Amino acid sequence: MVFKSLLEPLEINDIILPNRVVFPAFQTNYASSEGYITERLLRFYGKIAAGGSGLVIAGCMAVSDEGAPETNVIKINDDRNIPGLKELFSHIKNNGSVAGAQLIHAGRQTLSAITGYPVVAPSAIPCPLMKENPVELDIEGIKKIQDDFVHAGARAKKAGAQLIELHGAYGYLIGGFLSPYSNKRKDEYGSDKTLFFTEIIEKVKRSIGNIPISCRISVDEFVEGGLTLKETRIFALRLAEAGADVLSVAAGTYSSIHRMAPKMELGEGVHVHLATAIRKAVDVPVICSDNIRNLEYANNIISEKKADLVAICRPQVADPFFIRKSLNSQFYNECKDCGNCLYFLKGEKYVSCPQNPALQDG
Ligand SMILES: Cc1cc2nc3c(=O)[nH]c(=O)nc-3n(C[C@H](O)[C@H](O)[C@H](O)COP(=O)(O)O)c2cc1C
Ligand code: SF4
Repeated sequence: MVFKSLLEPLEINDIILPNRVVFPAFQTNYASSEGYITERLLRFYGKIAAGGSGLVIAGCMAVSDEGAPETNVIKINDDRNIPGLKELFSHIKNNGSVAGAQLIHAGRQTLSAITGYPVVAPSAIPCPLMKENPVELDIEGIKKIQDDFVHAGARAKKAGAQLIELHGAYGYLIGGFLSPYSNKRKDEYGSDKTLFFTEIIEKVKRSIGNIPISCRISVDEFVEGGLTLKETRIFALRLAEAGADVLSVAAGTYSSIHRMAPKMELGEGVHVHLATAIRKAVDVPVICSDNIRNLEYANNIISEKKADLVAICRPQVADPFFIRKSLNSQFYNECKDCGNCLYFLKGEKYVSCPQNPALQDG
């Protein structure tokens, strides 16, 4: 089997991705409780990078303690994080992939019991899943968080990240500002739902220069009163105008969690059509994701110009050598769609996968 389209390199600014496969951000909860890189994370990402993805986006990484979505998320809020991150990005690069970093502030989709700080959001409306009342951010709070993203971006650059992804999907803080479902503000950050995000993009860009910025967004939130393609098609264009070099198309929020890591019963490539619609609206490369389970299908997505890059997550969790083995027509451990890796829904402390017992090694 020849995967010509999938194996075509892609140039973005000063970097060249060796192929079109992305390992997207995947919060394992394998960091230390202070957010430092652990041996377990190095093992995890080393294998994934050796497995053959052109781009590995590590993280997510919290830009502040207040913005942490989980207890053992990677943190990038202090210069003391830089040596560990340097090791992580070098490890990914030495194993053959381009190293990316996803930056997050969780907004209302976390708990003060996790962060040790009050939960904040664009408006004082609780997330239906987390149920904690957030504090509505004032302008000072908004500027402080934007600066946190800028400092985090600078640290990622210093540590050797070659692409920086801003997490604007799934209803976390940036996604919360984008959405009429969670942003009921009466000021300029409510009348222009993209303003919080476009200002971050512009400020981060000024600080990191030519390093490509990817923006991940939920193009359809699948909640009543939430974002749909009607708005996000226009939003995507604004993000690109503000400096996004890549757009990564996702779907859902904590209120529609079945869309964030969809089961196969929702269909193969369930959100690829959303990526195709965004690709038609913008001039920058677009990443599609969700339920892409084999390389023949992934190759067709690229050759049919439905997207420029294909994110493949759980198949690489089940077998970190999924890409390489598929290219060589070798047997691999298949993702069985069991949902076990969604550890927080199962009351578990971190990611595990019955198909990949090596992940259990702490
Ligand atoms: C346990 C788990 C953690 C995830 N963490 C993140 C994350 O931190 N950031 C993000 O953008 N997406 C995250 N995702 C979504 C994945 O990047 C991906 O979009 C999703 O799993 C669907 O792709 P797949 O069908 O190839 O698995 C996570 C998914 C799972 C299952
Ligand atoms: S835990 Fe289940 S759903 Fe997650 S990667 Fe492994 S087999 Fe797939």
